[in-house]
Amino acid sequence: MTLRACRHRRAGTAAALILLSLLLSACEQPDMANQPRLDTYQSDSGFADGMAARPIPEGTVHRDQALNERPTHNPAPINRGTLHRGRQQFEIFCAPCHGRNGSGQGVIVQRGFPAPPSYHLPRLRQASDAHFYDVITHGYGVMYPYASRIRPADRWAIVTYIRALQLSRNARIDDVPEALRPRLREAPP
Ligand code: HEC
Repeated sequence: MTLRACRHRRAGTAAALILLSLLLSACEQPDMANQPRLDTYQSDSGFADGMAARPIPEGTVHRDQALNERPTHNPAPINRGTLHRGRQQFEIFCAPCHGRNGSGQGVIVQRGFPAPPSYHLPRLRQASDAHFYDVITHGYGVMYPYASRIRPADRWAIVTYIRALQLSRNARIDDVPEALRPRLREAPP
């Protein structure tokens, strides 16, 4: 065999080997059942707690749970935390129209949007917490619904805060525990 022919044959063998390795590696491509993913109860997940099963994020809703199911009574505890949260959410979502004091003269109304009724009307003072919750959830007349924007717990907190707004105009001295009445006189005028 001449030197030239020998070189040719070696080159041919190398090409065949490369082709074979390409074909074989094609067979080893991971299919969909074999992906770089974590199994549900795998323990070496790389997360701080080691677990592959992650905690369910807050606010997750079961697919069979009716989205707008609501209790008949306000489940929010009446305390400073609820009022604080309710006020914050109210001032973000409701005050632009209803006004910060709930009288229905928010800045948007001052610029021409239809005025909502005052929360201090006897009819709305007597309305149930559930009515306010439903108005937030489903909207009312020209007011659009807030179900997609305000979480249920925050809707109840807003209702609790609106109750406080209503009370602020209609509280009687008898509503204040006797021991606390002297402090009312200390309040700034
Ligand atoms: C863009 C302006 C706007 C915003 C923001 C808004 N509302 Fe209203 N709301 C209205 C208007 C206007 C009405 C009167 C609707 C009608 O009678 O057609 C109304 C009516 C209401 C009523 C009275 C329902 C009744 O029985 O008469 C309640 C309660 C109420 N809104 C609560 C809220 C709460 C709580 C928020 C915040 C989560 C909110 N609204 C945000 C405009 C608004």
